[in-house]
Amino acid sequence: MSRIAYVNGRYVRHADAAVHIEDRGYQFADGVYEVCEVRHGFIVDLSRHLDRLNRSLLELRIAWPMNRAALVVAIREVLRRNRVRNGLFYLQVTRGVARRDHVFPAADTRPSIVITAKSTDPSVIARKNANGIKAITVAENRWDRVDIKTVGLLPNALARQQAKEAGAQEAIFIDANGLVTEGAATNVWMVDQDGTLLTRPSDHGILRGITRTTLMDVAARLRISIREEAFTVERMLAAREVFITAATSICFPLVEIDGHTIANGHPGSISQKIRDAFFDIAEKTSI
Ligand code: PDD
Repeated sequence: MSRIAYVNGRYVRHADAAVHIEDRGYQFADGVYEVCEVRHGFIVDLSRHLDRLNRSLLELRIAWPMNRAALVVAIREVLRRNRVRNGLFYLQVTRGVARRDHVFPAADTRPSIVITAKSTDPSVIARKNANGIKAITVAENRWDRVDIKTVGLLPNALARQQAKEAGAQEAIFIDANGLVTEGAATNVWMVDQDGTLLTRPSDHGILRGITRTTLMDVAARLRISIREEAFTVERMLAAREVFITAATSICFPLVEIDGHTIANGHPGSISQKIRDAFFDIAEKTSI
């Protein structure tokens, strides 16, 4: 079975899928994206992901490439054609194709849209959850509108590469005040010594993760106390538990940061409880 991608209204073989060389996504990173998990044949938290897409598009004044209902049809079709039961879809909208010029092109320029989907191996995720993963910290060096989910991810990619070269799986950005912002592609959480769950407020310093939002619902249901509060690296290193969240990984425990062991070096119980309850509480849309 060959992989299929959706590109500007057509379903094409993944190997042949392409956008124009003057697409503004390619030239200026002038576009936004979403990544959404698919589990047991259901799309997880689709409404919240599309609401955030709407916000990102509004912030950049890019038009919707099609209406929301038509977009959902295309997403489902890509998932079906790729036979994804467990995995994800990736959706990207750019300002479209225009002769290279920094200012916005004519208002009638059609936005470009691409949707891809892939299956993931649940056993790889299970292994990471059982063993925990490692992270490094890096200085925050991104622009101050990381709350918009744009495809301008070069600092994130460089940070992830730095983590990989250090034998870790995630890089955590630290702002000029020594406070944790977020991971290269995740939000960061810690459990304080009194059992309170802490995560940075969703101001302009972080992306408001959909997993982060739903995790707050999960914590409320499990009666875990939670506070939106920024924390320092030192406080994080002394935490009972540290974990990261994203649609692709839900909630991975961190057992080592910058070579320091977190707690006893094993994944903690709170992230486990949250992970166990997450799928039941999240919105599920059938494919
Ligand atoms: N990344 N912060 C950043 C910088 C991210 O890129 C992501 C997600 C998150 C978590 O957001 P959510 O819970 O909505 O996935 C936080 C996606 C998965 C990616 O770029 O692949």
